[in-house]
Amino acid sequence: MPGDFALVAKTLSGLEDLLAAELRDLGARDVRPLSRMVMFRGDLRLLYKANLCCRTAIRILRRLRKFNCDSEQTLYDEVKGIDWARYLDADGTLAIDPVVTNSTFTHSLYVAQKAKDAIADQFRERTGRRPSVHLDAPDLRLNLHMNQNIATLYLDASGDSLHKRGYRTVQNVAPINEVLAAGILRMTGWDAASNFADGMCGSGTFVIEAALMARRIAPGVFRKRFAFEKWKDYDRALYQEVFREVEALENRAPLPFVIAASDMDPEAISIARQNARNAGVEGDIRFDCRPFAEQPPLPGPGVLVMNPPYGERIEVPRIEAMYRMIGDTLKARYSGWRAFLFSANLEALRRVGLRATAEVPLWNGRMESRLVEYRIGGARTDHGPRRPPGGAAPRGAHRPAPSARPSLKPERRTREAP
Ligand SMILES: C[S@@+](CC[C@H](N)C(=O)[O-])C[C@H]1O[C@@H](n2cnc3c(N)ncnc32)[C@H](O)[C@@H]1O
Repeated sequence: MPGDFALVAKTLSGLEDLLAAELRDLGARDVRPLSRMVMFRGDLRLLYKANLCCRTAIRILRRLRKFNCDSEQTLYDEVKGIDWARYLDADGTLAIDPVVTNSTFTHSLYVAQKAKDAIADQFRERTGRRPSVHLDAPDLRLNLHMNQNIATLYLDASGDSLHKRGYRTVQNVAPINEVLAAGILRMTGWDAASNFADGMCGSGTFVIEAALMARRIAPGVFRKRFAFEKWKDYDRALYQEVFREVEALENRAPLPFVIAASDMDPEAISIARQNARNAGVEGDIRFDCRPFAEQPPLPGPGVLVMNPPYGERIEVPRIEAMYRMIGDTLKARYSGWRAFLFSANLEALRRVGLRATAEVPLWNGRMESRLVEYRIGGARTDHGPRRPPGGAAPRGAHRPAPSARPSLKPERRTREAP
């Protein structure tokens, strides 16, 4: 399409297919999921929209140049060959984020330095002045990927990671990343139209992301800024038009189902409530301060997602007892629900004492974790497809064979220079 260019959306491992589906829904073309990223094509309108609307993207990049690079000199020459005055002023500020994998270049900071020298030299030769480095809030943020000596240079359209939605101004000790929380919600197949609960809600990430989905509120509308707002080709009128279109899709009717958040810690409840207020969804969430074991039964069907403590600060016998309590409570009070526990403590997960109906390996930062599904007392097996809207089911997702422990393991994706 005329006006299209190559784009990349970065994400977390395991969320690639979900993000690809989100991008297709937004109108992206040539969508191709890779490892922790999705390649696609689109225009400026789509670039703005993807930043505002993608729940499972960490950042959106616009490809500037891709080249073979087997030496420092080639890197320098190729970067210097770009007309940087189109993107930056001589007295502007710049940051380069390098990502080096499987390459003869091993020092990512050195690679970034070389690229920065090429840009600075071009400005100095043309104007006698040069841009300076500003790591936190530069006028232009670049991403430089080196993979098997293929270099790809991108303009970073997002700036701060898109998991920083802007609503979580206060947090408790171990909040889950908002992008991971949104991806987990999609994986559960929750239809955003039936009961949802988190009985250990902490700062409220799952319930707030759930309410945003139910209200069709785009996750980017709370952000103060995106990096593309400083680009020389920034089209303010177009961005405002896209913003208004996205806002017009919001569902403002009362929600005819319950989103329930509880935690035994009163401070967590007050933090979650504040964050929900920031996101404009406080009125959609029923907050309750009480231990999970004392939950009054909630009518099903519904989806419960919980991220219990992993046990880093708690001794082992107590953590195992806690997971056993979770299993007992689910069995006693959540009949008809599908429950999902997300934890890095695989040993403790075995103490839940319920038959897992599916399991997905995911990373929570550097911690290898599992998302485990339990269908409690007659939960309908056809409730909610484990399939992102408009897209394929996450790779490996399947109904478990009765004999085997199921796995929803996402396909291992190859690394490739995008
Ligand atoms: C890992 S944090 C959850 C983080 C949350 N997903 C977020 O995004 O902020 C675990 C939470 O479980 C709560 N918790 C621990 N034991 C509990 C229990 N028995 N009943 C209810 N809440 C409990 C803690 O107070 C803590 O807020």
